Amino acid sequence: MRVHLRVWRQPAAHAPGGFEEYDLDDVSPDMSFLEMLDILNEQLVAEGREPVAFDHDCREGICGSCGMMINGQAHGPERGTATCQLHMRKFDDGAHIVIEPWRAAAFTVIKDLSVDRGALDRIIQAGGYITAPTGSAPEANSLPVPKEVADASMDAAACIQCGACVAACPNGAAHLFTAAKVAHLNLLPQGQPERFTRVQAMVDEMERWFGSCTMHGECEAACPKEISIDFIALMNRDYVKAQFKNRRLIAQSA
Ligand code: FES
Repeated sequence: MRVHLRVWRQPAAHAPGGFEEYDLDDVSPDMSFLEMLDILNEQLVAEGREPVAFDHDCREGICGSCGMMINGQAHGPERGTATCQLHMRKFDDGAHIVIEPWRAAAFTVIKDLSVDRGALDRIIQAGGYITAPTGSAPEANSLPVPKEVADASMDAAACIQCGACVAACPNGAAHLFTAAKVAHLNLLPQGQPERFTRVQAMVDEMERWFGSCTMHGECEAACPKEISIDFIALMNRDYVKAQFKNRRLIAQSA
């Protein structure tokens, strides 16, 4: 199949960027989108031109490295699919495809399609962990967890930190990402001791970098792991409770 590409090219973070156009004539419908970009880069290198920079690692929908706006949609036209798992058969022969980096105030373009998503790491650094040493895996039934709770926690833990939710949000908000990272710990018994300090620290850090949530729901539609915006409601509930619980903790320790 043939495709006509319009790709955002930007040499460095603060350099001006613009679209460049390329034609590829021999794309297999069975290629992944990233393999198609590999072909483009081989062609550019053969012509002595600079290849397109883009992030990728596992190419299995696990690591969250890949991510780009494809025809205005985060990760492209297939729902619940990361860019690396998107196949060219989802496009028509002769398709015009516009490829841009994530567009969000908190994500600076490093080069071409590669962006700095460090602001998401700073939210995790603020509280996305359990501080108690847990040792080796305990016997599975020593701490019973209801099936619905374990399932909900696993659903939240599916977040791969790709940033599609932020890129898709008109406000550049990271509420779905933060809510998933808060929930997968806060739902489980092991997450309870730090439940309220965690949610407060992570939400406060999130608000330093990202926009506000006005419940457009674009994040849920763009998420390659189809994480539900219900987690945002859980996070908001815990954040409100934290305003009282954490104040009491501080008063007790004074
Ligand atoms: S490259 Fe790892 S999720 Fe796409």
